[in-house]
Amino acid sequence: MRKFLTTTAAIAVLMGMGGTAARAAENVEVLHWWTSGGEAAALDVLKKDLESKGISWTDMPVAGGGGTEAMTVLRARVTAGNAPTAVQMLGFDILDWAKEGALGNLDEVAAKEGWDKVIPTALQQFSKYDGHWIAAPVNVHSTNWMWINKAALDKAGGKEPANWDELVALLDKFKEQGITPVAHGGQPWQDATIFDAVVLSFGNDFYKKAFIDLDPETLGGAQMKEAFDRMTKLRSYVDDNFSGRDWNLASAMVIEGKAGVQFMGDWAKGEFIKAGKKPGADFVCMRFPGTQGSVTFNSDQFAMFKVAPEKVPAQLVMASAIESPTFQSAFNVVKGSAPARTDVSDEAFDDCGKKAIKDLAEANTNGTLFGSMAHGHANPASVKNAIYDVVTRQFNGELTSEEAVTELKAAVEAAK
Ligand code: BGC
Repeated sequence: MRKFLTTTAAIAVLMGMGGTAARAAENVEVLHWWTSGGEAAALDVLKKDLESKGISWTDMPVAGGGGTEAMTVLRARVTAGNAPTAVQMLGFDILDWAKEGALGNLDEVAAKEGWDKVIPTALQQFSKYDGHWIAAPVNVHSTNWMWINKAALDKAGGKEPANWDELVALLDKFKEQGITPVAHGGQPWQDATIFDAVVLSFGNDFYKKAFIDLDPETLGGAQMKEAFDRMTKLRSYVDDNFSGRDWNLASAMVIEGKAGVQFMGDWAKGEFIKAGKKPGADFVCMRFPGTQGSVTFNSDQFAMFKVAPEKVPAQLVMASAIESPTFQSAFNVVKGSAPARTDVSDEAFDDCGKKAIKDLAEANTNGTLFGSMAHGHANPASVKNAIYDVVTRQFNGELTSEEAVTELKAAVEAAK
C-alpha cells in the first residue's frame, strides 16, 4: 500500500498536477491538546513513527487540559466543513460525533489486525459505533492517582497515607514544612479530576451509583455532602495563586519540591519523567487513599473524521501505526499511561507504569473499573459539564456542601 501511494504521489508530481491530492494522501492533520512538555514528548513518538512511514504531520494543537478548548475548536472546524483528519478525543465525545455521522470507518484495518481480540471491551465501547470501528485508542489513563514529592514525604515520616485521615495528617505535615501541601490548578476539569478520586474513595458502589447510574438519591444524599466536605478540606491546602493554573505547572511545583502532592491522572507522570525524575527516588505514585483496587479510567483515542477519499489511506496508516504493539509500548512509556492493548509487555515501563498496567487488568477482572466522570468516560458532555459547574462552584466556596448536593442532583436531572 505504501509503495503504491508513494508511486501515485510521484507520478502526480511528475505530471505537474501540483500534487495537492497526492500530498493529501500522504498527510494527516491532527487536532489535539497535548501541549505540555511530557505530552509533547509523547506526541513526538507518534509524529516520528508516522514520518518513518512516509506520512507527514500537520499539527493543530489546542492548549487546555482535559480537551475542553480543543472540543470547541473542533466544533467550529466541522461546522465550517473543514474537519481535521484525526482528532484526539475522549469517551462519550467520540460517540456524540459518531451519532452525527461525522466519523469515518476503520473496520478494514481493525479486522486485518484483529483489534477486537486485543483492545479491552471497556475501550471498544467508545471506539465502535453501531458495530463499526470509528476511532483508534492510544492509551488508558486513570484519574485516581496522587504524585508525592519523595523528599517531602521522607521528611514527614515516609509513610504513604492509607486513608483519608492519614492523608490529612500528611498534608498538615507538608504545611509545617513550609511548602504548599496540595499543588492544584483551579480549572473546572482539574477540580473534577480530584472529585473523581474523592467520590471513589467512598467506595465502588457509591462511584457507580453517582456517576455511572446518575442515581438522584446518591447525587443528592448525605454521603455526597461528605464528599463535598472533603473537597472543602482539600481546598484549604492549595496556595493563593491556584486559580486558573495549568495542571503541568502544578506538577512542576511537586517536581521542584515547592509542593507536597498533586492529585492528577497519570499524564502527570509524563511531566516528572520529562524533568528527569525517577519514581521511588524523586517521587511516589500511589492511588488516592481508599481507592486502591479501583480504577477510574479515560482513554485517549484518535477519532477519524470523514474526509476526502484521497485522505483515507493516510488515516488507515495512522490507525494501524497507533495500534502496533511496539508503538503502544514506546508511546505510553513516555505519556504515563497504560497501553490500549492487553498483549503489550510491561517490560519497558517504570514501576508506576507497571502498577498502572497491573491495576487496570485487576480492576477489569474484578468489576472495579469505571469510566472517569471528569474525563468524559462516564457521561456525555452535557451531564459532565453540569457536574463540573457544581463541583467548581463548591470548590471555590460559592456553594456550601448542602447547597452543592441539591444543585448537583437538580443539574444532572436537567442535563440527562
Ligand atoms: C487526557 C490526557 C491529557 C490530559 C491533560 C486528559 O483528558 O486524556 O491525555 O494529558 O487530559 O491535558
